[in-house]
Amino acid sequence: MTFTRRSALAAAVAVTLASSIPSFAANKPLTIGFSQVGAESEWRTANTASIKDAAKKDGVTLKFADAQQKQENQVKAIRSFIAQKVDVIAFSPVVESGWETVLREAQAAKIPVILTDRAVNVADKSLYVTFIGSDFVLEGRHAGEWLVAQAAKNPGKKYNIVELQGTVGSAPAIDRKAGFADAIKGNPALTIVRSQTGDFTRAKGKEVMEAFLKAQGKNIDVLYAHNDDMAIGAIQAIEEAGLKPGKDILIVSIDGVKGAFEAMMAGKLNVTIECNPLLGPQLMQAARDVVAGKPVPKRITTVEGIFPAEMAAKEFPNRRY
Ligand code: AHR
Repeated sequence: MTFTRRSALAAAVAVTLASSIPSFAANKPLTIGFSQVGAESEWRTANTASIKDAAKKDGVTLKFADAQQKQENQVKAIRSFIAQKVDVIAFSPVVESGWETVLREAQAAKIPVILTDRAVNVADKSLYVTFIGSDFVLEGRHAGEWLVAQAAKNPGKKYNIVELQGTVGSAPAIDRKAGFADAIKGNPALTIVRSQTGDFTRAKGKEVMEAFLKAQGKNIDVLYAHNDDMAIGAIQAIEEAGLKPGKDILIVSIDGVKGAFEAMMAGKLNVTIECNPLLGPQLMQAARDVVAGKPVPKRITTVEGIFPAEMAAKEFPNRRY
């Protein structure tokens, strides 16, 4: 596996013509209504800042709503954006399912919808114009492949894995679980012994890790956390239990935030798989294209790196979030 960092935008899988979108006067200021998941992680803070900064830089009026990790708040925000007749609605859905009704309301009002960061599970793909974000299955697979490579260095050793899942029903929790499981499938050295949600937060990551440690005693060899914040919370629990994170328990997590790099430099975390939160510029571009009636790719994927602890000190000065 090569540990390279590429920050380019990947290609389109399919192209949607924004045919139902009203034509847009070139100089009219653009208004975007954006419903954010919440403020649950370092990643999310960077994502919010990226969207706000990009809107400011582009002279876009941004109506921002924080859903505090609740789908009902997002539905309310989307309805309010429809009532305010914004030009584009964008949102990062807390969970994957349950969006048809409100997305049909946006479609009926002829307001294009852009998904950022997380996908929705809808049969009718015309309910949104494009989805900009990471490939979460691939991230989970990269985490699993890293572990498979580590296990190969110690033939005969068995690894008990505990998994801290993200928010129940969210795209990254579902996909990262699936990608990781697929990568370790059939490897007799690797077994997931416990798996529970830590809701993508440090506090919950710590709490659930404490429960894992209580239940498993010292029989935990690996922690796979669906994000860095939960891993950082779990590191605290591991230390409080008198164990050495990164040594007694290998830790694999996802996001690549600065906090994870600091933990790696302190020898407490073994690898982080990058998930790029800096989606603001891509969102502004896609919104402009959509209202101008230009074709927009149905899927815009960010391409990301893998950072093992050995690379942390060298890479740290380049981190932007
Ligand atoms: O949807 C992206 C995920 O959401 C990030 O990995 C996590 O940190 C955030 O809460």
